[in-house]
Amino acid sequence: MKYYNSWTPIAKLDEITKGKLLLWEEDGYSLLLTQIADQIICFENVCPHLGWPLDMSAVEEGLLICPHHGFEFDLLSGACPLASELSLRYFPVRERDQYIEVQLNKVRVNGPD
Ligand code: FES
Repeated sequence: MKYYNSWTPIAKLDEITKGKLLLWEEDGYSLLLTQIADQIICFENVCPHLGWPLDMSAVEEGLLICPHHGFEFDLLSGACPLASELSLRYFPVRERDQYIEVQLNKVRVNGPD
């Protein structure tokens, strides 16, 4: 596995679509990108409930709905209304030269900012 300690380009800006999830996998990372409101977000492709993948989730009105047991997560905060101890895990994102770059060594909970 490579060690990433700076901004890493993982997608082109025009690959990101509101309401759709874009999966990026490399070197053991499995991440999802989407746009919510005017913000591009990146989070782990891991459901905080039982750790199953989220890439087949539905996205509806700002919520991510896990396909396995139906838990919902607010995409802007990561919060799960049914289980307050659960949260999506985000990575910092920036746009640069038509690419989306992510800091892979800076995962965090409680929203993308
Ligand atoms: S694994 Fe996602 S809700 Fe159970």
